[in-house]
Amino acid sequence: MSLEHIIAALETLQSDALDKIGRAQQSHQLEDVRLQFLGKKGRLTEVLRQLAGLAAEERPQLGQKSNAVKERLTQAIDQKLQALKFAEVETRMQSERLDASLPGSGFPRGHRHPLHLVMDELIDLFARLGYSLASGPDVEDDWHNFEALNIPADHPSRDMHDTFYLEDGRLLRTHTSPVQIRALKKQKPPIRIIAPGRVYRCDNDASHSPIFHQIEGLALDHNISMADLKGTLKHFTAEFFGPEFPLRMRPSFFPFTEPSAEVDLGCVFCRGSGCSVCKRTGWIEILGCGMVDPAVLEAVGLHWEETQGFAFGMGIERMAMLRYGIPDIKLFYENDRRFVGQF
Ligand code: DAH
Repeated sequence: MSLEHIIAALETLQSDALDKIGRAQQSHQLEDVRLQFLGKKGRLTEVLRQLAGLAAEERPQLGQKSNAVKERLTQAIDQKLQALKFAEVETRMQSERLDASLPGSGFPRGHRHPLHLVMDELIDLFARLGYSLASGPDVEDDWHNFEALNIPADHPSRDMHDTFYLEDGRLLRTHTSPVQIRALKKQKPPIRIIAPGRVYRCDNDASHSPIFHQIEGLALDHNISMADLKGTLKHFTAEFFGPEFPLRMRPSFFPFTEPSAEVDLGCVFCRGSGCSVCKRTGWIEILGCGMVDPAVLEAVGLHWEETQGFAFGMGIERMAMLRYGIPDIKLFYENDRRFVGQF
């Protein structure tokens, strides 16, 4: 082949390649072009094989030309690569673009849990009656949870408590009553405390949860009587549920109070006419209470002749369920915002 032919072949090769580069849409297509034209077994190498058939003085000319073609194509490929990358970024930016004028999706506001609301309300309510806040540990010892509250080891009422025991003999408190003992160890009467907190029992159904909350009240002084207890409770239910619901005290038994009573409130659902919640009685039990038993006073070094008073204890979940008409105790622990946000 003559020099002119070879040069013409190079021109064709170049325009073929430029055409393909121009049409490439993706970077891998450009790599194909590079291989096909400039690679070791590519078309340029093939054309250059013709070099052998040329006269010595013609060779530099062909060399120059082929270098120029090679450079031109390399440049064209690199430029196109750049352009493709730029276009890719551009499309991505377009698709990921933020429209700052769109309305925001809103940040839902948190809400206090109904148990906290009720607990705070009760603390406030009793604070207005002069009660201060007291607390004790969740992990208790047998003495504070049972013994000092006049519940000895073989006492049948221990069965009612379904206690979780720890391996070291301690336990998860089954009620907030041990806070009475802790408070009396720290402070001599006159004393008026309210003690809300978590309590634990192996019990689990629609109205029982293994962890629940109670609030304990204790008032000790001279000459405090059952009438003071009843007046206090009447004030509490009138404030918390409304003054229209009647209250009644039924004789009952608790080892740490004597006499003891259970307190019923006129059913908040049917207002006394009888419904499934109050089992057609018109009354709902809301708490346990009584005059602090002399044995309890003795356990903390006090004597019934100098000190008298009352105690009461109630379930916070129960108060919230009655107050808001909540049918299932489990709703308190699921933290569904649709539930929590209603209060
Ligand atoms: N501790 C009792 C319970 O968990 C409730 C209770 C009843 C507390 C009578 C009291 C009380 O302070 O006087 O079932």
